[in-house]
Amino acid sequence: MNMLWGKSKKRLFQDHPETVVEIGPGAGANMRYLQKGTRLIAIEPNIHMHANLRKSACKYGIQLDIKTIVGESIDLADNSCDFVVCTLVLCTVADPLLCIEQIKRILKPSGVFVFIEHVRAKENSILGFIQNLIHKPWHWFFEGCHTNRDTRSVLEASGFTTLEIESYNSYSPFVPIIPQIRGRAIKG
Ligand SMILES: C[S@@+](CC[C@H](N)C(=O)[O-])C[C@H]1O[C@@H](n2cnc3c(N)ncnc32)[C@H](O)[C@@H]1O
Repeated sequence: MNMLWGKSKKRLFQDHPETVVEIGPGAGANMRYLQKGTRLIAIEPNIHMHANLRKSACKYGIQLDIKTIVGESIDLADNSCDFVVCTLVLCTVADPLLCIEQIKRILKPSGVFVFIEHVRAKENSILGFIQNLIHKPWHWFFEGCHTNRDTRSVLEASGFTTLEIESYNSYSPFVPIIPQIRGRAIKG
């Protein structure tokens, strides 16, 4: 996983502030890219992830604050955060637009939201055909993940004034998640 996303994460997370909010951190795959001593507010609804999150926090010297809530309903104040991270999560959340709107709400003006997501392939492509074909079993097996979600359009609809999105094909061995986007949004 670090082979696939390590370089992008280093670039996107560089110069992050002392406090970072992460939506859906899972077992804490992103902690190795945060500076030691960072305070991480982890919005992770799945309690089965929490033990590994704590282990990762110990390993990487992160001050962890877990919130067992969903990204669509974040209990942080408006304009209170500088930096929000979200990797491979918008494919799974029940309402991605609401989740992004919440991220925008909690960010301070000039606050930064960084993301890496697998997304829907181009129309009429072989990858798109495979994504649609495998969607149901994949959704069931990978706990609600959508292979063919058009997250780029959702981001574009979310009203961030500055939005930098790079589309690319990853080297993932899992064909349905080859089409990906990475980038950042800045609250105006
Ligand atoms: C595929 S994992 C990604 C974990 C991690 N971000 C990474 O890059 O390895 C998706 C994570 O999103 C979490 N998740 C699912 N629905 C969510 C929601 N509505 N709000 C926040 N997190 C959610 C899951 O519990 C899981 O930890």
